[in-house]
Amino acid sequence: MMNYRIDFIKPFGIKIEATAELSNILNLETKELQILFRQHQLILLRGFTPFKNTDDFIKFCELWGEISIWPFGKVLELIEHDNPSDHIFDNNYVPMHWDGMYRPQVPEYQIFQCVNAPMSNQGGRTTFSNTKLLLENASAEEKLVWEKVTGSYQRKMEFYCSKTVSPIITKHPHLDYEVIRYNEPPSDDQGQFVNPPELEFLGIDEKDLNNLHRSLKSALYNTSNFYAHDWQAGDIVIADNFTLLHGREKFVSGAPRHLQRVHVLSDPPYNNPALRSYE
Ligand SMILES: [Fe+2]
Repeated sequence: MMNYRIDFIKPFGIKIEATAELSNILNLETKELQILFRQHQLILLRGFTPFKNTDDFIKFCELWGEISIWPFGKVLELIEHDNPSDHIFDNNYVPMHWDGMYRPQVPEYQIFQCVNAPMSNQGGRTTFSNTKLLLENASAEEKLVWEKVTGSYQRKMEFYCSKTVSPIITKHPHLDYEVIRYNEPPSDDQGQFVNPPELEFLGIDEKDLNNLHRSLKSALYNTSNFYAHDWQAGDIVIADNFTLLHGREKFVSGAPRHLQRVHVLSDPPYNNPALRSYE
């Protein structure tokens, strides 16, 4: 690793850049990357020679563990659709959530490859909030409110129809710290939101709900816990889906934004403790 240029991303994550001599991504040791991943929760690999094809990208992902297979296969093509049936394929913003929340197993790693990036003024950054940091930075009063609340989420889309129930504050599946599992309600001021989930929050009075969401939102997007990734073509980002929540900023319709995303399971795989029904 010493031969690469490594920078810290603020407030979390690290960037490893290729050099003229070391531009083959397969020269990186996955075991070393995994140690850095545990320490920093997000790794950006930039400037490496692009994979020749999607199969080569899949082979890289398989170095990290077992790939979670979706009805569409191993790779999700994140690209804007005409008349999307779901917000995932719209150009709209996507609120904070964790991946696999509606699936039988929750992946530990999200691995993204940026095939094509929007221009710098076209939006479309992927947003990440580090909930370990967030809980370390939160006040005792805030935590007292959050730890009483359980979120109940129902969502029907092309790939599943599921119900998920999770406390807001819960434990990291394999490590000794607390994390937040929360699907932020889509805000009204962000335009039309295609196919929203049904959300319910238990353990809190109706009159206090707005304050709950306001306090979580302010913590999730606080610059001490929040990083928004500005994509460049060729970027590989590996993000910790157990610790982070993520979303997307809206982008200009028609902008050339194309990401590929693969889910890699932990070892051993983590069965979703929050899943109540799944079709
Ligand atoms: Fe997601």
